[in-house]
Amino acid sequence: MNLGHQQPKNNQIDKNDQQGKAWFEESRFGMFIHFGLYALGARHEWLKSKEEMSSEEYEAYFENFNPDLYDPREWAEKAKAAGMKYVVLTTKHHEGFCLWDSKYTDYKVTNTPFQRDLLAEYVQAMRDAGLKVGFYYSLIDWHHEHFTLDLFHPQRNHPDAHEINKDRQISIYTEYLHNQVRELLTNFGEIDIIWFDFSYASRPYNGFPGKGRKDWDSERLEAMVRELQPNIIIGDRLDIQRSADNLPDLVTPEQYTPSTAPTVDGQAVRWEACHTLSGSWGYHRDESTWKDASQLINMLVDTVALGGNLLMNVGPTGRGNFDSRANNALQVYKDWLHVNDRSIYGAGQSEFEAPNGCRFTQKGNRLYLHVQNWPFRHIHLKNLGGKIKYAQFLHDASQVKWLEPENKNYELTEVSIEGDYIALELPVQKPETISPVIELVLKDNG
Ligand code: GLC
Repeated sequence: MNLGHQQPKNNQIDKNDQQGKAWFEESRFGMFIHFGLYALGARHEWLKSKEEMSSEEYEAYFENFNPDLYDPREWAEKAKAAGMKYVVLTTKHHEGFCLWDSKYTDYKVTNTPFQRDLLAEYVQAMRDAGLKVGFYYSLIDWHHEHFTLDLFHPQRNHPDAHEINKDRQISIYTEYLHNQVRELLTNFGEIDIIWFDFSYASRPYNGFPGKGRKDWDSERLEAMVRELQPNIIIGDRLDIQRSADNLPDLVTPEQYTPSTAPTVDGQAVRWEACHTLSGSWGYHRDESTWKDASQLINMLVDTVALGGNLLMNVGPTGRGNFDSRANNALQVYKDWLHVNDRSIYGAGQSEFEAPNGCRFTQKGNRLYLHVQNWPFRHIHLKNLGGKIKYAQFLHDASQVKWLEPENKNYELTEVSIEGDYIALELPVQKPETISPVIELVLKDNG
């Protein structure tokens, strides 16, 4: 069996890139940006729902929205420096506030003290920096007067909730949502990803149904998106029924690293895990569950090892900049990817089985062993006997020696290898890098 030369599984999707989407698997790492009025509340982007706030109370954020330090070129520079290849920004989150000069609403950035079209500047800056441009668009809208009350709506427990709903017609909202998506995909040039969020058709509350494809008119919406932007990658939260002949463009597990690559109907799919640096997507001043450096790196490694991308979120402050905690986290990625880039970009899942405490990524005949849990002196690798041409650490290109199965003794240690294993010889001390990567160059006839 010539395992070493099988393509990583994820490369089987869209092999010849007929749809122009191969950049996505090549990229592996992107930045999610959650920015909106909630940055001013600074206590989670769901605050309007969680605190059951009225639109009048929420108005204070609209009246004071003025991110004077907003500089999308700086966002782009930081994303690039951290090794991210694309950016997805919330054009509208559940609060309903629009970051562009939409002609379908007054509830938009150009009517705040800030006045500028924040989205237009973002698109320009990302493109100038060579980053791919993504739009997140919330299907949910807690501001629109025809968005009917449901389990997440801030007014769900209002004493007149059912009365309020009587005057609402979801079909009017559906048209609004379609018009806005058309506007977003018409006025800003080529857009690489549209990330819809989210559906909950089977979650009724207090006599109110949930919402899903009927409410969004998802099939028609998707058809329109494809017509406007044939190469765009469409997120999978529209509640469209999927099967092997109708695979989604992008599966989006959230705040969760799967243990096996997601599939639809047994078929491999393009996928992207989205995660937060701390426990909130929007800027949260007082939240303290910031992930440490090794969690940050290992989330990327775990994801790429399963053939997925990582979309890591930053929530800019109400001034429009990234705070020091976010900057420090981005620095972790920057430092690590500076030396370990080869093991991530364009790499994917390997057919080889990684030993305990390790992950494999693979690109062609280069197999990358990510040692997440540093052992004492040896790592045994299965099915690789006779297949390795050379091995080295990525961070310093220092040689790593190994023992083939026939070797029973080496230097002073008695090594006994049972079965088809090789044993890598490691320094006792872990190199000073998170999850050191060993590059195994496989023989051509592997
Ligand atoms: C969830 C959250 C939402 C966030 C999204 C990102 O749906 O409710 O706030 O934007 O995840 O995946």
